[in-house]
Amino acid sequence: MITLQNVCKTYENSNQKAVQDVSVHIQKGEFFVLVGPSGCGKSTLLRMIAGLENISSGELSINGVVSNDLQPKDRHLSMVFQNYALYPHLTVEENILFGLKVRKIAKEERQKRLTEAAKLVGLTSYLKAKPRELSGGQRQRVALARAIVSQAPICLMDEPLSNLDAKLRAQMRMEIRDIQQRLGITMIYVTHDQIEAMTMGDRIMVLNKGEIQQVGSPLDIYNKPENEFVATFIGSPSMNVADCQIDTTQNTANVGSLRIPLTGSLVSQLQHTDVRIGIRPEHISVGEQGQPVIVQSVEVLGNESIVNFVVDNNMWSAKVAGQLKCKRDEIVHVQFQVDKLHFFERSTAETFSLHNEQEVITT
Ligand SMILES: Nc1ncnc2c1ncn2[C@@H]1O[C@H](COP(=O)(O)OP(=O)(O)OP(=O)(O)O)[C@@H](O)[C@H]1O
Ligand SMILES: [Mg+2]
Repeated sequence: MITLQNVCKTYENSNQKAVQDVSVHIQKGEFFVLVGPSGCGKSTLLRMIAGLENISSGELSINGVVSNDLQPKDRHLSMVFQNYALYPHLTVEENILFGLKVRKIAKEERQKRLTEAAKLVGLTSYLKAKPRELSGGQRQRVALARAIVSQAPICLMDEPLSNLDAKLRAQMRMEIRDIQQRLGITMIYVTHDQIEAMTMGDRIMVLNKGEIQQVGSPLDIYNKPENEFVATFIGSPSMNVADCQIDTTQNTANVGSLRIPLTGSLVSQLQHTDVRIGIRPEHISVGEQGQPVIVQSVEVLGNESIVNFVVDNNMWSAKVAGQLKCKRDEIVHVQFQVDKLHFFERSTAETFSLHNEQEVITT
C-alpha cells in the first residue's frame, strides 16, 4: 500500500515544481501505470517513492508508515531504472544476483530464481557476458531480471520495455503482468506506450507538468476523459478536437465548413456554452455518404487505414477497418457517431458534462 499526500518536488537548481501536489492511494497488489509527456515528472515521482530523491513537501506512506526519510534499502522495493544502471564490471549473472547476495539469500535459492528469471527474459545464454557486450534491449532485460529475482513486494519500473522490439515487447508485457499477478506485487509502472498503459494497468494516472490530470481504470480514462489534455493524450491517433459553433436551427456543431449533426438534447444542453468538440478517429466513418472532406494523406496499416483531412486549419484523422483505396486531394465523405462526441469547455478545457444520451443518429 502506497499513499502520497500533497507530494511536491522542486529540484535545488530549478525554480519550477517538477511534481505538484500529487495525492493518490495505491492498493496492495495493484498494477498502477503512470503516463504523461516527456518531462512531466514521472521518473521524479518514482524516484521519490524509491527514496532516491528527497520529497520537497508532502507525505509518502508505505504500508501506513510515513516513509519520507526511510533509507531506500528499508523500503523493500525493487526498481527498474529508465537507464538500467548495470554494473559494467560484473557479468549478467552477477548483475542479476547482486541484490540477493547483499541480502544473504542462500545460494540454492539464488540459482533457482536466476534460472527462472533468465529464462523468462530470454537471457539464459548470456549469463556470463558483460553489459558492454549486450544490445540495449538485452541490457534492459538484465535490469528486469534483477527486479524479478528480488521478489520485493513493491516494484517500480521506469519504461522497462522502451528498447525492445515490438514482438518482444508484447511478450514481456504479458510476462510482467503475469508475474505481478502471480506474486501479488504492487507495481508502479511508468510508460509512454499507450498499449502498455491500456493493457497492463488496473489503473492509470495521467500526469502533465507535474500535476495529476486524471486517475482511473484504462476504460474510464479512454471513454470518459475529464479534460481535453487526457482526451488527446490517450488514444492513437489522438482524438480530433476543434472549436465549434452550435447551430440551434440546424441542430449541428459547425467546425469550419463541416456540419456535425447533433441530437436536439445535445443542442439544448450546449447552446449557451462556449465549447470545443472532440471525436476519436475510430468514431468517424469514411464512405459514400456524409460530409465531403479533402484527403490530405492516407496511412494503410494492413488491417486498418487512417485518413487525414483538414478541418478548419486542424488536421483530423479517421480510422477505418481494412485497406482504404483513396489518394491525396480526393474527396471522401465522413460521418460522425453522435453518441461518441466529446465537448470541452473552452475557458477551462474541462469536459462539459452531459446528461445521458441514448439517441443515436448518423447523418
Ligand atoms: N536532477 C535534476 N535537476 C533539476 N531538474 C531536474 C532533474 N531531474 C529532472 N529534472 C526536471 O524535472 C522535470 C521532470 O523530469 P522527469 O525526469 O521526472 O520527467 P519524466 O516524466 O520522467 O520524463 P521522460 O518521459 O522524458 O523520462 C523536468 O522538467 C526535468 O527537466
Ligand atoms: Mg523519465
